[in-house]
Amino acid sequence: MDSFLIEGGRPLRGEVTIGGSKNAVLPILAATLLTSDTCTLHRVPDLSDVRFMLKILESLGAEAEFKDGTVTVRAARIKGFGDYELIRKMRGSICILGPLLARCGEARVSLPGGCVIGTRPIDLHLKGLAALKAQITIDSGYIQAEARKLGGNTVFLGGRAGPTVLGTANVMMAATLAEGVTVIESAACEPEVGDLANFLVSMGARIQGIGSPTLTITGVKQLHGTEHEVIPDRIEACTFICAAAATRGEIIVHGSRPEHFAAVLDKLREAGVRVDRKAGTLRVSGPTRLKPADITTMPYAGFPTDVQAQFMALMCLAKGTSVITERIFESRFMHVAELMRLGADIAIEGPNAIVKGGKPLSGAPVMASDLRASAALVIAGLAARGSTQVHRIYHLDRGYERMEQKLRALGAKIDRVAGE
Ligand code: EPU
Repeated sequence: MDSFLIEGGRPLRGEVTIGGSKNAVLPILAATLLTSDTCTLHRVPDLSDVRFMLKILESLGAEAEFKDGTVTVRAARIKGFGDYELIRKMRGSICILGPLLARCGEARVSLPGGCVIGTRPIDLHLKGLAALKAQITIDSGYIQAEARKLGGNTVFLGGRAGPTVLGTANVMMAATLAEGVTVIESAACEPEVGDLANFLVSMGARIQGIGSPTLTITGVKQLHGTEHEVIPDRIEACTFICAAAATRGEIIVHGSRPEHFAAVLDKLREAGVRVDRKAGTLRVSGPTRLKPADITTMPYAGFPTDVQAQFMALMCLAKGTSVITERIFESRFMHVAELMRLGADIAIEGPNAIVKGGKPLSGAPVMASDLRASAALVIAGLAARGSTQVHRIYHLDRGYERMEQKLRALGAKIDRVAGE
C-alpha cells in the first residue's frame, strides 16, 4: 500500500486548478443508465472511485470510455444485476439502484455495510423507492427491488441527521421515468444533487425546485443522451485552501465555485484567513497567527461534514480552543488520534472535539482511515516540523486527483512511496 512522505514546514505558494466533483460525478454516471443513448461527461476527475463506477456500469452491460477528463457511456442494453463484488466495495454505488429499477423494472444490489465514519443506513433510499411503488426485499445481504411500472408519489426524505444526499439522488432518478408526479420533501440541497438534477433535465427529465428542499418530478416516457460538464469539487477546493492557510502560504485557486462553500469561507475568515474573490479565482493568504473558530457540520448550506477533518487540522494550529461538532456522521473523528500523534491536543466529548490549538506539530508516521481524515493528515503533515509518513493513501486516491502533484506544484515536499 502506497504512502505519502511529507517534509513539512514549507508555505504553499502558487496556483492550483480544482477538478470535477467526485460526489457529483458518481450519481451522474449512475444516471447514464437511464437512457440507451450516449452520454458524454466533461471535467471528470480521474479517481479510483470513478474508475470503479465505470467498471460497475460495464458489468451491467454498458460501454464506457474515459479519456482526458471526458467520459462517454452508452448503456444500449443493460441488465438489472451487475458484479456484486464491485458494487459491495464502493458505498457510492448504491445510487445505481434507482436508475436500474426505472430502466429495467428490477435491480439487485448488494447491501452496503457501515464504514469507519458511521453505520450509514439506507432506509430512506428504500422508503423513497417503496413510495414509488417498488417492491423491496432484503435477502442474504442483497437489496432486491422490482416494479413493473414505477408510480409518482409524495415522499418525505428527511432523517435523523437531515436530508440524504444519495437517497435524494436515487429517488429523483427513479422518479424521472415513473408514471405521474413525484414530490420529494426534505430533499438534499447539496450542489452535487443540483448538478445531477441539471444533468437529468438535459436528458429530457422534468424537474422543478432544483437546489431547494422540495423537488417536483414529472415522469416522462424516456430520456435521451446528452453532454454535461461536471461542477468543480468544492471539497477539493476547501482542502487546498485549508492546506494553504495551515502552512501560512498564499495560493490562487482557479476553477472553483466559491458560492458552493460559503459556510467554509465564512469560518476561514473568522479564523483570520484572507480569501479574496477576483475574476473567477480565489486568492488565499494564511495569517501569521490563526484564530480559533467553532464549527458544527450540517446539511447544505451549512458547514459540510466532508471538510470537518481538514478544518480540525487547521484549528490545531490556531492558538486557543475550538469546538468542532459533528452532526452528520456518528463516528467521523478517526483523524483525532492520528492528529494527536503529531502533537495536537484534542479531546472528544460525544459529538464534540475540543481542540486546544497553537502547540507546534511535529512529524510522525500516521495512518489514514478514510478519505477526508487522510486529507486532514496531509494538511497537518505539511504544517508540521520534520517528516510525516501518511500510510494507506489509497483512501486519498478515491477522492483527490493527483493530490501530491498538485501540492508539489505549490512548493510542498511530498512524495509517494510505493507500498510493500
Ligand atoms: N441516513 C439515514 N438513512 C439513509 C441515508 C442516510 O439515516 O437512508 C443518514 C446518514 O447516516 C447520515 C445522514 O443521513 O447521518 C446523511 O447521509 P447521506 O445519505 O446524505 O450521505 P451519503 O449520501 O451516503 C454523501 C457523500 C458523502 C458525504 C455525505 C453528506 C457521496 C458518494 N457521498 O453520502 O461523501 O459525506 O453525502 O454530505 O456523495 C466523502 O466524499 O468523503 C463522503 C463521505
